[in-house]
Amino acid sequence: MGDHGDVTHYEAEAAGCRACPLWAPATQTVFGEGPVPAPVMLVGEQPGDKEDLAGRPFVGPAGHVLDEALAEVGLERSGVYVTNAVKHFKFVLRGKRRIHQTPTAAESAACRPWLTSELGLVQPRLVVLLGATAAKSLLGPGFRLTRCHGEPVPSDAADFVTATIHPSAVLRAGDRRAEAMAGLVADLAASVALLAA
Ligand code: URA
Repeated sequence: MGDHGDVTHYEAEAAGCRACPLWAPATQTVFGEGPVPAPVMLVGEQPGDKEDLAGRPFVGPAGHVLDEALAEVGLERSGVYVTNAVKHFKFVLRGKRRIHQTPTAAESAACRPWLTSELGLVQPRLVVLLGATAAKSLLGPGFRLTRCHGEPVPSDAADFVTATIHPSAVLRAGDRRAEAMAGLVADLAASVALLAA
C-alpha cells in the first residue's frame, strides 16, 4: 500500500486512470507538479501537445506565457504548484498535427477527483483558475469568467479562489496580445495581493 499523503501516490494511480475515454489516444497522464504543500496553486485546462509528450504541465508555448506573467507579479514557477483540470490531452488529428479540443463537462467531472486530491495535498491558500474550463470545473457551469476575473470567488477549495484568462488566450490574441497579457498579469497581481491582505 502506498503513502496516501504523498502526491506521487496519486500520480501513479492517475497514470492508469480510465475514468473517461481521453486516456486512449494520449501519450500519458500529465499530473501536477510543484512544491507540496504550496501557498499558490494554478489550474489550467489540460495538457497540450508538448505537455502530453513531456509528461509535465505548462512546458509548451502557453507555459512560456505563464512563466512570463508569473515573473511580472514576482512569483517563481518553482514556488507554485501547477496542474490542470483534465489530465489527458484531448485532440483531433489534422494530417500529422494534433489539434487541441476543449474537454467536455463530463470529461472534466471524470478528472475532478484528481484535482480534489491535489487540493488536499497541496493545501494552497490561493488557487488561480486559468481559463473557463478550469473555472467551471471547480466553480460550476454557471461561472462567468468575463464577469468575475481577478476577483475572489467563494469556494471551499482554498482561502482565496480566483479565475483569469488562460495563457493560450494571449497567444491567440493577435494584435491585442499586449492587452491580453496585461489583463492576465493584472488578474494575477490582484490574486497574489489577496495573500498579503
Ligand atoms: N494548457 C493548459 O491548460 N495546460 C497545460 O499544461 C498546457 C497548456
